[in-house]
Amino acid sequence: MTSAPLIVPSVLPADLARVGAEVAELCAAGVDRVQWDVMDGVFVPNLTFGPDLIAAAREHSSVGFEAHLMVVEPERLLDRYVDAGCELLIVHAEACTHLHRTLSRIRELGVRSGVALNPHSTAATVAHVLSEVDLVLAMTVNPGFGGQSYIPAVEPKIAALRRLIDDSGFPIELEVDGGITDGTIVGAAAAGADVFISGSWLYAHAHGKPAAVDLLRMQAVKGATGKEAA
Ligand code: DX5
Repeated sequence: MTSAPLIVPSVLPADLARVGAEVAELCAAGVDRVQWDVMDGVFVPNLTFGPDLIAAAREHSSVGFEAHLMVVEPERLLDRYVDAGCELLIVHAEACTHLHRTLSRIRELGVRSGVALNPHSTAATVAHVLSEVDLVLAMTVNPGFGGQSYIPAVEPKIAALRRLIDDSGFPIELEVDGGITDGTIVGAAAAGADVFISGSWLYAHAHGKPAAVDLLRMQAVKGATGKEAA
């Protein structure tokens, strides 16, 4: 881990009837960004957030928004999510016929670009687009739903991505998403991740969101350094 761990909640478990207040609560809890899981019912068997809902929540947030686009042909929708206030757009390598072109297009729109890999996809899939990305996302569940169990078999790939990124010399964040808890974050951090998405565990934490965020951050440092956080 080259920098302090970033803790980013997924909005999927939020009470959508009060999404603005929910986002403000997450900011008050000390999160570093907010992730919107955008699902189209085709790339994944679930349907979630359009750009208008995200735009409506934008004024309630003091932190940046990232959109995790779990959609087919994401190039059709990039402008809409930038206009909605997302500063980082993440597309799936498995959904892009022309991945290099799509990542370059995201940067042309003036925002940061990210590429996501499903659990079965290899690290080599992104080896030739590292110059076009600001973030690589290794899914630690099969995308489409919150509340699933973390897949430890992804950790060797996280380590391979860490080596690829370090060897490239580019300042690329390595994010993991799916089943992240105070337990599983240790292994993901030890493998080399430095950005951590958490949904159901963070929302369900008995002591509330601020305590959950602090605990995740402490455990990530422990995983990365092998020592308890100071
Ligand atoms: C799943 C999403 C994740 C999910 C995380 O497809 O990409 O962001 O919402 O939720 P938990 O932490 O509950 O696995």
